Amino acid sequence: MYTFDKRAYDRRVRWFRQARFGLFFHFGLYAIPARGEWVRSTERMPEEAYMPFFHSFDPARFDARAWARAAKDAGAAYAVLTAKHHDGFCLFDADNTDFKSTRTPFGRDIVREFLDAFRAEGLKVGLYYSLLDWHHPDYPHYGDRHHPMRDDPAQANDGRVWERYLTYMHAQVRQLCTQYGRLDLMWFDFSYDDMLGEKWRAAELADMVRTLQPDILLNNRLEASGEGFGSLYRCQPTPWHGDLITPEQMIPPAGLRDVRGEPLVWESCVTMNNSWGYVRTDRHYKSADMLVKKLVECVSKGGNMLLNVGPTAAGEFPPEATAILDKIGRWMDKNAESIRSCGPAGLDKPEFGRFTRNGSALYLHIFENALGPLPVPQVKRDDILSATMLSDGSEVPLSASWVHSDYPDVCFLDLGPDPVLPDETDTVVKLLLKEGF
Ligand code: GLC
Repeated sequence: MYTFDKRAYDRRVRWFRQARFGLFFHFGLYAIPARGEWVRSTERMPEEAYMPFFHSFDPARFDARAWARAAKDAGAAYAVLTAKHHDGFCLFDADNTDFKSTRTPFGRDIVREFLDAFRAEGLKVGLYYSLLDWHHPDYPHYGDRHHPMRDDPAQANDGRVWERYLTYMHAQVRQLCTQYGRLDLMWFDFSYDDMLGEKWRAAELADMVRTLQPDILLNNRLEASGEGFGSLYRCQPTPWHGDLITPEQMIPPAGLRDVRGEPLVWESCVTMNNSWGYVRTDRHYKSADMLVKKLVECVSKGGNMLLNVGPTAAGEFPPEATAILDKIGRWMDKNAESIRSCGPAGLDKPEFGRFTRNGSALYLHIFENALGPLPVPQVKRDDILSATMLSDGSEVPLSASWVHSDYPDVCFLDLGPDPVLPDETDTVVKLLLKEGF
């Protein structure tokens, strides 16, 4: 019988709540057609049409250490790689299939190289593992909601043995949990229709993963997808409950709480452009400025942001992704303290931007300057022990200007004579507050 142990739970999610910012990597054969990781499904592509990508897969410029350095420099504290996506292609040397990177011209175990390199940079590591599998003959084809061959009656499911697929899938997860060292996060994807929970033999699967990797975190997609919060939200945890909720391509309007009102652990996964896997023609990139602000938004609402990179078939980040990560990294280099280990401030969202907080340190993320001295709502002058610019430690005086003499109860900061904020992305002022605030 599974019992939910709240103390063990709090202990294992601690690093995750502190990490706040991670990178997601969607990498696989689909980088070659460069039309997204769903290409087989959206184009109803038969297996034979996909196999040429397997036979030519050779990301010659793949360098896990360069990826890991870039992630570290961007300020990410953890990273998650697609060990297997829905197409079924394994980026690791799976014992029970030939459909894997080690059997392509590339011939290397990408998961192992990734894990070694990211751990060496001090990042926590996670693996994404698709519960769906469009390569395996025992996965339902005809009539499935997502399978590439869903409309083809010739691909009827007689003779497909579901239990055989489950055995295969469980064995792969076991191999990842036993032969690849310590994993910090297992990111299953995803449940739909009746394909959820025990259909995946989820109790056994979750138990196996937790037994083999006692400290690992599981996401909630054995019982949900980007839709549905899962059983932790309902305060009735199933044996396969996720440790974290996984909103996708959005940030929950007010963070996430369970039905009793207690804060939940969550992570918004988001793309830089509009695609997970590499899509050459998708140039709809969010700016680094915007992504920093969205990261701050997640933290201010008690969540994490998992930002995706879809490397090219050559094994490199698209140049736009590199530029974005560089710029995020320059901001994080000065301001990570206002992200890591931070959470909601317990105050209303201020007009100038957002608050994050870690104990007695309150961080003012100023996206928009005031005209003149900057009002800090809900904080009194007497509550403030010090105010400094986080980027350089310089003092930020409290304003004594006559212009706000009619507002004696509001505290104003004097950011200096320049109306333009020193960091146009997000200028962070750190307030040390009196105990008890
Ligand atoms: C979706 C998609 C998938 C992507 C994932 C990331 O569930 O199926 O392609 O990997 O979201 O969250």
